[in-house]
Amino acid sequence: MLDFSDPQIWWFLTRASAIVAWVLLTVTALWGILLKTRILRGADNPDWLKVTHRYISGLAMTMVAVHIVTLLLDDYIDFGWADVLIPFATSFEPLPVALGVIAFWLLVAIQVTALLAKWLPEAFWKAVHLSSYGVLLLVALHSGLVGTDVGTPWYTAVSLVLITTATLAVVIRFIIAGREKPAPRKTPATVAAPQGDAIRAMPASNFTARVVDRVDSGSGLALITLTPVDKNLELEWEAGAHLTLHLGNGLERQYSLAGDPAEQDSLLIGVKNTGGPGGGSTWVHENLHVGDEILCDFPRNHFPLKPARRYQFIASGIGITPLRSMLYALPASREWTLLYIARSAKDMLFAEELVELYGERVSLWATGDRGSRPDLASLIDPAAEVYACGSAAVLDELERIVPARRLHLERFEPKVRVSGRVGQAFSVLAATSGVSVAVNPGETVVGALAKSGVVLPVSCNRGVCGTCEVRVLEGQPEHLDSVMSDADKDELGIMYPCVSRSLSAELTLEV
Ligand code: FES
Repeated sequence: MLDFSDPQIWWFLTRASAIVAWVLLTVTALWGILLKTRILRGADNPDWLKVTHRYISGLAMTMVAVHIVTLLLDDYIDFGWADVLIPFATSFEPLPVALGVIAFWLLVAIQVTALLAKWLPEAFWKAVHLSSYGVLLLVALHSGLVGTDVGTPWYTAVSLVLITTATLAVVIRFIIAGREKPAPRKTPATVAAPQGDAIRAMPASNFTARVVDRVDSGSGLALITLTPVDKNLELEWEAGAHLTLHLGNGLERQYSLAGDPAEQDSLLIGVKNTGGPGGGSTWVHENLHVGDEILCDFPRNHFPLKPARRYQFIASGIGITPLRSMLYALPASREWTLLYIARSAKDMLFAEELVELYGERVSLWATGDRGSRPDLASLIDPAAEVYACGSAAVLDELERIVPARRLHLERFEPKVRVSGRVGQAFSVLAATSGVSVAVNPGETVVGALAKSGVVLPVSCNRGVCGTCEVRVLEGQPEHLDSVMSDADKDELGIMYPCVSRSLSAELTLEV
């Protein structure tokens, strides 16, 4: 029990909080490095690991605050606020104390920029985050020069362990940084935009892939496995990601990755020959065979798997593809079920494999045999996060019956969304380029910016693929796309300007 009448209590607490803060700072730096180097990512969901990183950092910050407050409460040194917050304000051990004060302010900067990361330029907050290694050095010097317990065997042992751990962590971090692949090679891939105006897609980050396997199943379904032609190319993608193919007929088409994210070089896609307008899937079926090469954009992910205790996956037809990669990525401890709806058993990709691997967790529903679609309202798990992909009819019904906060959808076709501000113009400020443009009724943000020389990368131009994603710095976008939920976009501070507009008179975008 702590005895607060003991005059030594604050001195004891200030020492204890200091050592705990030092341990936590070392652990969180190490945790961040393990995340960065992907050593932990294979074991669990990356989002869960990032949350833990933030939690440990917050705890370390709390311990630093306890250290400062208890220093102020202790009578032995008689510190005032200025002494603990302004470097060199104190006459007691000015240099060692100043090192601690500087470390504190750096920590505040790291925490604040991490919290505001989605509104800040990525390069800026990452640079601030990098200063956490400087914090570790300052803390080590501060503790070694001014700590009451310096010289005692236990303190020496703890200090040596922490300093050695931090040093090893920093060395690993910089060795890994040195090995990281250079910026992806960019191959000019200028493709005419389908809307027929002057906009042309910018050269995208892309690579050439070769078809290494193709399996055609019933009902016009083809499973195609691609791999980069350049064996040194390191791809990075997570469950839910998709691949954009630049087809030989000038079209671009997006296909969800269905394989195991642990095998980053193996890009498995499922393509259903719809014979629909545009002919993208028909082109793939007729032209992509084993040994053929095709230009692809680097995988993107607008359908990420977020951490949750329980999941309900609902696939309809070809919508099984991103969900299959999610099943690979799920930690074994998670509870989940999969409902797979298709017209018939032969329209179900991977059905046998899924049942064999996961047994009763998987329910197959062939509408042709059963006569109708399942009654989704009676099947929804009220405690699960629902992830669904596939036909518009199924996804539309889920939007009606599942609360938006726990529903995660990926659409292949855009949802019909009508602007609530038809006929109204607004202005867009491209903050990076310093260009301001008026977006007139009937014009898109992408089109208006292109006229002023600010050309955004686009692919589908229908608000489905996510290629045109931009960060919103100010203003309120009117989301008219079908990429992730509007709440998720607002939380991330992003929009898709090929179709989305503005609810405010002006939008400021980071372009
Ligand atoms: S270009 Fe596809 S979402 Fe905008």
